[in-house]
Amino acid sequence: MDVELHNKTPFYSAVISYINSSVTPFDVPGHKLGAINTELRKFLGRRAFEFDVNAPKGLDNLNHPRGVLKEAQELFADAFGARKAFFLVNGSSVGLLTMILYSVKAHDKIILPRNVHKSIINGLILSGAIPVFIKPNIDGELGIAGGINLKSIKDTIKEHPDAKAVLIINPTYFGVTSNLKKIAEHVHEHNMLLLVDEAHGSHFHFSDRLPPSAMQSGADMSVLSIHKTGGSLTQSSALLVKSERIDCDEIQNILNMLQSTSPNSLLLASLDVTRKYLVLHGKRAIGHSIELAKYAVNRLKDIPGIKVVDKKYFKEKKEFGYDSSRLVIKVNELGLSGFEIYNILREEYSIQLELAETYCILAIITIGTKKKHIDTLVNALNDLSYRFYGKFVPYIVPKFQYSFPKMLYRPRLAFHAPYKKIKLDDDAIGEVSAESIMIYPPGIPLIIPGEVITKELVDMLDLYQEQGSTILKQEEGPYIKVIDKDNWKLFQNDESEE
Ligand SMILES: Cc1ncc(COP(=O)(O)O)c(C=O)c1O
Repeated sequence: MDVELHNKTPFYSAVISYINSSVTPFDVPGHKLGAINTELRKFLGRRAFEFDVNAPKGLDNLNHPRGVLKEAQELFADAFGARKAFFLVNGSSVGLLTMILYSVKAHDKIILPRNVHKSIINGLILSGAIPVFIKPNIDGELGIAGGINLKSIKDTIKEHPDAKAVLIINPTYFGVTSNLKKIAEHVHEHNMLLLVDEAHGSHFHFSDRLPPSAMQSGADMSVLSIHKTGGSLTQSSALLVKSERIDCDEIQNILNMLQSTSPNSLLLASLDVTRKYLVLHGKRAIGHSIELAKYAVNRLKDIPGIKVVDKKYFKEKKEFGYDSSRLVIKVNELGLSGFEIYNILREEYSIQLELAETYCILAIITIGTKKKHIDTLVNALNDLSYRFYGKFVPYIVPKFQYSFPKMLYRPRLAFHAPYKKIKLDDDAIGEVSAESIMIYPPGIPLIIPGEVITKELVDMLDLYQEQGSTILKQEEGPYIKVIDKDNWKLFQNDESEE
């Protein structure tokens, strides 16, 4: 990589030149470079509004890049070791939809773990593909899902040699990684595509102290939420293409179906500027965040009732790798659930964590984290330990399981089937869901369209409700949308889909 080239910020610089050219605006957006008097304009100031332009002459077009956006995307691809990069303005969600729509058509099989983000389930609905779910490693002690081992991939490919693609989450929300390089080799030997949800791994490519990125490991495509750990503005993400097998014109075509024709220039510029920063300063800045995480682990490890999980822990659990800038902290020995600790930290200590699970909490450390942030968190956990440790028995859910329901119909078929709304209690067991239900964050569905409602699901939802977590579902109250089998011709003719 020619680092000198990365001093340039083609799109960002072009917007600044445009602002400085004192143009008289007769185009949209209607705030006319901030010439309006709203509360937001007053709070943000004029600059943010001036920057919010909508593809005037000279600033290129994201749907058909030929100028400064093309150049910015080329630099971005170079920085991330990709053949081609596409800027995304609707988060990784739109990139994941695009990768799926490109790789699988209706009735094609795609191999993927069940603990995927909801946008991937939406990709299955839109494409009509048949998911072949692989069970990720499950960590019963932390109550979380981990990576995917090579053997599970090999076994699943052997059973489904006709699958078109394999999709891996790397890293997981909790920072666990899989052996992508070996997975890529095996997947390619079987003529399938390897797609990677790298939403949480934007920083991997810029530090040799972190697991290898999807592009370094030989994946065909990956999607990164640059806004999560890269430092760009929320919603700005990127789709990267590595292999020659991918038809980039077709990727552009699909993106043009899914993305706005008015992409926000602040988001695009933030991608351009973040790329420059990561190339020039990423290694040092990410190294510093890893040091801060180490510092946190050292301070947290002696607090009674708190267990902080590190690389060694995941190695012992036979996971392939771990993002050592994440802090997974087990808190249930304090006698409270992760959700309760998450809420107490927010309400009483003004600390906003990334997410909670039944037994643990997750703090994300990035290039923006400062030592004083770590000290605030450590002091708060120290205080919680003093308040709660030894006063209650550890919070244990006797029958905690990490199981997923059985799938009876393809997600798209179930999504389009006639439905009825029923109460989500024991009477619903055995019905087939027509909607997704998930805990947010992380946004991983507990059930998706086409899966059968089980006793475990009803119990898990009761538990999550009790713990005060946010349950996202379509129906208000204790209801769920299920397939109305009595009115479904398909079901009356033949109980199976094929
Ligand atoms: C694993 C994973 N994939 C994809 C996404 C979607 O990313 P975005 O919010 O950038 O659309 C998320 C969001 O939290 C995620 O956790």
